[in-house]
Amino acid sequence: MKVVSIVGARPQFIKAAAVSRALRQNHTEILVHTGQHYDLRMSQIFFSEMDIPEPDINLGVGSGQPGWQIGEMLIRLEEALQNYHPDWILVYGDTNSTLAGALAARAAQIPLAHVEAGLRSFNRQMPEERNRVLTDHCSDLLFCPTQNAVNLLAHEGITRGVHLIGDTMYDAVQQFSEVAQQRSTILNDLHLKSKNFVLATIHRPYNTDVPTSLANILAALRALDESVIFPVHPRTRKKIEELGNGLAYLSDNVRMVEPVGYLDMLALEQNARLIVTDSGGIQKEAFFFAVPCVTVRSETEWLETIQSGWNMLVQPIAAEIRQAVKHFSPVGQPPSIFGDGQAAERCVEILEASADRT
Ligand code: UD1
Ligand code: UDP
Repeated sequence: MKVVSIVGARPQFIKAAAVSRALRQNHTEILVHTGQHYDLRMSQIFFSEMDIPEPDINLGVGSGQPGWQIGEMLIRLEEALQNYHPDWILVYGDTNSTLAGALAARAAQIPLAHVEAGLRSFNRQMPEERNRVLTDHCSDLLFCPTQNAVNLLAHEGITRGVHLIGDTMYDAVQQFSEVAQQRSTILNDLHLKSKNFVLATIHRPYNTDVPTSLANILAALRALDESVIFPVHPRTRKKIEELGNGLAYLSDNVRMVEPVGYLDMLALEQNARLIVTDSGGIQKEAFFFAVPCVTVRSETEWLETIQSGWNMLVQPIAAEIRQAVKHFSPVGQPPSIFGDGQAAERCVEILEASADRT
């Protein structure tokens, strides 16, 4: 079996790592990088740390307006795909690279499989929600991380080709959290004590591109009377600089650092007292590690994390964030709903079985 996997943004490298390993045991994978993320710390570091093979081709699309970015990816994918005749195109998650990959597969009439299908935030203002819905509705195989995702697809009339496999990000955490404990030196480097700091990441446009929201989030972090480690996404750094006096919103307790690699991130997550984020993946990782999570969003596609009591939503309002960080204290342990760490193997088995039938 020959599979073309399409990735482009940070969370996709992490989602693809385990699948790529499982796939290459008996099959041929051609890895296509759209180039959506390109900084060393947004891309290459994940390939090195997670032993992901170098992409066979990098389309080098880079940053731009969404229409341009998706269009340019589609043009370059169409050309690249002429060189391969895969049994499947595999796309991950909900970024512009996901949608471009899905459209390219349809245009070339190549069967399409979507990993992390069935997620819904029900907020169509978010590009990710539009990307997910469109990708799901043109996929032949839909690999769901949770039962809830399977149910949501059924509500939209999609039942054919739907498989509950578990979460490939959970696979990655299973494979790499011990490695992170052994290899990451970030706690020492930043002089951090376990359970004595808050980890923060913010990169969603509705938080970064609305100056009052961004200023409120920074003010909330500054007002905390504990250390905050803040690995800053390039989009966010740009927007903080644009705030003009953005850095004035921060004080000594807030350490802005460059985006960190996966192993450092796992070490930070496992040892944080609490996580403040608007990231999809980090909400889940907080849950995997039983670390309380305060999510600066109006809704989330990872509803189970809220229902279990380990994640809570807040608005980008300084007092609200501060109160949540101070007082949010889940009890018990998060339930096991993201599979058994074998999602990647299941994904490959199903691709294999279904390829025989195409
Ligand atoms: C994208 C995804 C989002 C995902 C996030 C993961 C879409 C619509 N959004 O958002 O779902 O959560 O990736 O991190 O696909 N930039 C750099 N260097 C890089 C990459 C980006 O400087 O390597 C800067 C550029 O100024 C760029 C901006 O970040 O314009 C935004 O990048 P982009 O890929 O468009 O969106 P993200 O915010 O990263
Ligand atoms: N991540 C990382 N370093 C960072 C920030 C995030 O390794 O500085 C990892 C994180 O552990 C998770 C994934 O990137 O596995 C989440 O990606 P991101 O927050 O960029 O996107 P989202 O999940 O919101 O789409």
